[in-house]
Amino acid sequence: MKVLITAGPTREPLDPVRYLSNRSSGKMGYALAAAFAEAGHHVLLVSGPTDLDVPPGIDFVPVETALEMFEAVGRHLFRMDAAVFAAAVADYRPASAPDQKIKKSGESMTIELIRNPDILGSARSKMNFTGTLVGFAAETENLEEHARGKLVRKQCDLIIGNDVSKPGIGFESDRNELLLVYPNHSEAIPEDEKHHLSHRLVREIEVLAATRKGS
Ligand code: PMT
Repeated sequence: MKVLITAGPTREPLDPVRYLSNRSSGKMGYALAAAFAEAGHHVLLVSGPTDLDVPPGIDFVPVETALEMFEAVGRHLFRMDAAVFAAAVADYRPASAPDQKIKKSGESMTIELIRNPDILGSARSKMNFTGTLVGFAAETENLEEHARGKLVRKQCDLIIGNDVSKPGIGFESDRNELLLVYPNHSEAIPEDEKHHLSHRLVREIEVLAATRKGS
């Protein structure tokens, strides 16, 4: 299969020296990219800034902002058989980012934020993607309910839920604990290394893709 994977955080500039971002290290997405490549698939990794080395044998598109990630995904998605969205994309960006560094002035400051495009949510509706579509859901409460909502709204074949309020898993960690949310059932996968979990996820997504092709 040709598989597109998004990974890492996005950075939304406030001025030339500051940005809004999040704690994603890219480890989950890069582990998935490596596992797909090791299983013989052709992988395109679209990644926000991370400290990680790109796994061998993978095509790589580096991006910084959500808008750049949206554009890169839109450019490549049409020729993919499957896509897995593991990136932690900023939902909002500063409405403006001046060319010069913002100077201290009053005792408080208000920053106006505007919505970024929902890249996963656009895959079917705007980019007309017909392949196997897999998203993540990073939740701090009601994991299954929120993940199932995303499965339906974003027209995915699978949402991989992770409870990012649990210590030692999720953001930045080498480990994760997953809830696979399919249209008709859910399955919990116990805590393990992201590397090991990724091999399991590859097998799940291979089955989904084969079923989608056959139907
Ligand atoms: O990078 P690590 O440190 O290894 O951490 C891994 C992780 C916690 C980042 C990863 O496992 C994870 O959960 N990734 C998704 C994080 C997230 O932003 O979840 P969400 O519930 O806000 O978004 C739902 C889905 O929509 C995700 O597939 C996300 O990539 C996608 N999305 C969200 C917003 C947006 N504007 N565009 C998107 O494509």
